[in-house]
Amino acid sequence: MQLIKALLCQFLATGAVWCLAAWAPIPVAIWQAIVVQALLAVLGSQMLRQPKWWRIIHLLFMPTVFLGLSWQLPSWLYLLALLLSGLVFWGTVKGDVPLFLSSTAVSDALIQLIKTEAASSFVDIGAGLATVVQPIAANRTDLRVVGLERAPIPWLIAKWRCRKLANVRISRNSFWDCDLGDFDVVFAFLSPLVMARVGEKIKAQMRPGSLFVSSSFPIPEARPESVMVLADRRKTRLYCYRIKNDR
Ligand SMILES: C[S@@+](CC[C@H](N)C(=O)[O-])C[C@H]1O[C@@H](n2cnc3c(N)ncnc32)[C@H](O)[C@@H]1O
Repeated sequence: MQLIKALLCQFLATGAVWCLAAWAPIPVAIWQAIVVQALLAVLGSQMLRQPKWWRIIHLLFMPTVFLGLSWQLPSWLYLLALLLSGLVFWGTVKGDVPLFLSSTAVSDALIQLIKTEAASSFVDIGAGLATVVQPIAANRTDLRVVGLERAPIPWLIAKWRCRKLANVRISRNSFWDCDLGDFDVVFAFLSPLVMARVGEKIKAQMRPGSLFVSSSFPIPEARPESVMVLADRRKTRLYCYRIKNDR
């Protein structure tokens, strides 16, 4: 859906600039046309309520194409760049969860939480580059740690980073297909778009007494047991939900 919206923004912005240039009483320089196209694409993206990160993509898309054309780069480079970004930003292409990474403060806070909870198992549902999973598993070699990562290149990198840690399993399964009842602490840093559905999943699957921690994005209409505000650059909030015995 997001991809269709993005293509629509680009086509409409390009069409509008083309008409403007054709009817303009004075000649329009190519760089002027590119700037207007990029701004119109951003505006379109805003009007179609795309998530904010798409604005950066729209802003950079046409200038990048223009630079590529003027430097006469071989055409296979475009295909390679497209393939690589698809393999890294798998979730962004699908329009739900992009790749961005937690700070060290997040993994430090989780290490403390795991200790307080006396947890013996931990899963990161959307492990990215193992930014969270790797330091936790290295700090707590007695803990069973699982990282689920669907995007191929981040999955490979996460696997490589954890290759020497015997207590970690990095899996390419989607967390939607995994049973979360197997873990004492479940961690997520996903996107506001999926939190309502994640809320239903943890309620249906997690064991009473276990803890769900969501970085930055709360579950709509659910009351967290506590909210930790971290002293990192983003002032990350960790929303902690205790699973109740009310099924
Ligand atoms: C915002 S990043 C968080 C990365 C890491 N957990 C961290 O905190 O640094 C979210 C990750 O979830 C992954 N992801 C999105 N949907 C997923 C799914 N259904 N199953 C597994 N991973 C998923 C994305 O590919 C992305 O790498």
